[in-house]
Amino acid sequence: MNSAAADKEPLDIPPVPSWWNRRHLLDTESLSVEEITTILDTADQFKKITDQSRQTLSVLSNQIVANVFFEDSTRTRTSFGLAARRLGAQVVEFSASSSSLSKGETLIDTAKTIEAMHVDLMVVRHRTPGTPQLLAQNIDCALINAGDGPHEHPTQGLLDVLTIRQRRGSLEGLTIALVGDINHSRTARSNIWALKKLGAHVIVCGPSTLVSPLWESLGVEVSYDFDEVIPRCDVLNLLRIQFERQYTRPFPSVREYALLYAMNKERMKRAKDDILIMAPGPINRGVEITPDVADGPHSVILDQVTNGIAVRMAVLWLIAHPGANPQGGD
Ligand code: NCD
Repeated sequence: MNSAAADKEPLDIPPVPSWWNRRHLLDTESLSVEEITTILDTADQFKKITDQSRQTLSVLSNQIVANVFFEDSTRTRTSFGLAARRLGAQVVEFSASSSSLSKGETLIDTAKTIEAMHVDLMVVRHRTPGTPQLLAQNIDCALINAGDGPHEHPTQGLLDVLTIRQRRGSLEGLTIALVGDINHSRTARSNIWALKKLGAHVIVCGPSTLVSPLWESLGVEVSYDFDEVIPRCDVLNLLRIQFERQYTRPFPSVREYALLYAMNKERMKRAKDDILIMAPGPINRGVEITPDVADGPHSVILDQVTNGIAVRMAVLWLIAHPGANPQGGD
């Protein structure tokens, strides 16, 4: 925390632990349990503060955050913008479609150009896996991965874990199934790393064309039989079919997929009484989830959206303060 900001701010702004030294958030794979727990605890504290008041906290008023999105987004982009503004940062929005990329500028030159405008922190989404990692090696400002193709989407994984922890207290010993297009899902990868580190048993489930048996090598259970999996689960996270990342049709028709894998009223009868129904969104009603389940009492889909702001506030706040914290306070 910079000491000038610390003097002015209310005491309940979560302190940055003195050991925190991460400048970029590129994945959940490389996060330690301690780092994940710190992000979740910090997010819980920011959630408490923002539940009480919509007032802007001026703790990042010296920072400029650029939202650099080369792929479409509703939740992630909006919540990063809201989170940054809530912390007092200035936000610049960059859209690939209206940029000089169309005139032949390279990605690295584009990022360097944005950085030269004194941007401190870049939030990047791109369809190519590894793009945020590449940019982190080529520019000086801090970088947050907001989704790199099918690879990772760390803040989505963290907000999913936060939503489960708020409802269940701990992830330890829970059985959590990720259902749908696992092969093309960055949400799946970021969830798997975070969930496993926190002690959950993870099942990946879907048609064999979308769930490779190789997933077992990450220490998760692979299943193609959704109806067998449902009664064992504490949480179901229903993932969208990523048609935009597929080169061949993974199943004969959407109707057939829904028959085997959509979470619906009938399947809810076989689920545990306290099951949590999650989805990162956007949801396709009638494909991976029916409207009665998406809008039903077990659904925490909108809690996930709200938690997205708290997690992104936490990540921005921590990432903006790498290195020893003169205030101590871990
Ligand atoms: C996800 C994404 O973009 O990876 N959505 C999100 O960020 N909330 C999942 C998806 O697109 O299906």
